[in-house]
Amino acid sequence: MKAIGLRQYLPIAHPEALIDLILPVPEPGAHDLLVRVEAVSVNPVDAKVRGQQSPTPAQPRVLGWDAAGTVVAVGSAVTRFAVGDAVYFAGDITRPGSNAQFTLVDERIVGPKPRSLDFAQAAALPLTAITAWEALFDRLGLESTPAADSPQRGQSILVIGAGGGVGSIAVQLAASAGLTVIGTASRPESQAWVRELGAAHVVDHRQDLRAQLDALGVGEVDHLLLLSDTDAHFPRIPALLRPQGLACGIVENTAPLDLRPLHGKSQGFVWEMMFARSMYRTPDMAAQHALLAEVARRIDAGALRGTLREVLGPIDAAHLREAHRRIESGHTMGKLVLAGWGATE
Ligand SMILES: NC(=O)c1ccc[n+]([C@@H]2O[C@H](COP(=O)([O-])OP(=O)(O)OC[C@H]3O[C@@H](n4cnc5c(N)ncnc54)[C@H](OP(=O)(O)O)[C@@H]3O)[C@@H](O)[C@H]2O)c1
Repeated sequence: MKAIGLRQYLPIAHPEALIDLILPVPEPGAHDLLVRVEAVSVNPVDAKVRGQQSPTPAQPRVLGWDAAGTVVAVGSAVTRFAVGDAVYFAGDITRPGSNAQFTLVDERIVGPKPRSLDFAQAAALPLTAITAWEALFDRLGLESTPAADSPQRGQSILVIGAGGGVGSIAVQLAASAGLTVIGTASRPESQAWVRELGAAHVVDHRQDLRAQLDALGVGEVDHLLLLSDTDAHFPRIPALLRPQGLACGIVENTAPLDLRPLHGKSQGFVWEMMFARSMYRTPDMAAQHALLAEVARRIDAGALRGTLREVLGPIDAAHLREAHRRIESGHTMGKLVLAGWGATE
């Protein structure tokens, strides 16, 4: 089968940073689906893994985790899916990735593809939807479908980095959970995109955030989702968040974080890491199957919209290198996708 991978971890400017490969089709284990990949999306984690300073891998390494495709074989313990089903998933970072014509994925972290989306639109969603859902509803403990009289309705949430892949779905999920969303974006086009997704207000993460919240009459927010540059934004949390409020971060810090300033207002900070359930085979890992099924249901009902912004071309090394270059700029909006395998399938 065709695949795209690496033999060495290299900067993206190097022509061999990502290369076209021919590899054997893998055999499913008991809980696995063998999926024919139709489209993949690119996330910052792909570029971070590719660019890491690690020893050369013993075997060529296939990256890529977001994908949509069709089930072509199932393992002996599979109960949720059958051959022919269209699926979408974000995979497991400890296994070979989805940048291949065929990939294996544990059925417990796979969802049925939204019927109203094509494969490219579906591939844009899973990794960011899992991250946003888990951050809001598992880590911050918000209700995904609050009752009409829930105190959550009308509470505020600040989403820092609202125009990126994760922000584009987090803003929608938070707004549909009755929250007043204040999203951050720094450019006119990303600010317009965040408004389109349902943010009540947009502020600029390159300016003083607290002053902008005060000018809007919002003041301290009830909840905070930090989707970018933890090193820079973490020290601002105590001033932005109400007493007893909780903030969730998703980007690993590079320098130690000082928790002391959170003590006075009894504020909390929690991490979301969307690969934790699959990486540690947690007893509740099938929660990702359930949430992807719920996201698909909401997409098909028109309650959520897709976040695909651009299909760059077919799935090959040249287009994947271009996708990594764009992701590394840190200023993409929504999601970039590659779809199909070109003329020589
Ligand atoms: N822990 C997890 O499970 C998990 C899961 C997914 C992603 N992540 C990580 O979370 C981060 C975001 O992922 P993503 O897919 O949303 O990335 P992305 O799509 O590349 O995010 C791009 C967005 O980030 C905004 N941005 C750039 N610099 C910023 C800053 N200093 N402060 C606030 N926003 C800034 C940009 O807005 P403007 O162009 O308007 O400036 C842009 O719209 C990445 O580091 C990724 O690796 C972690």
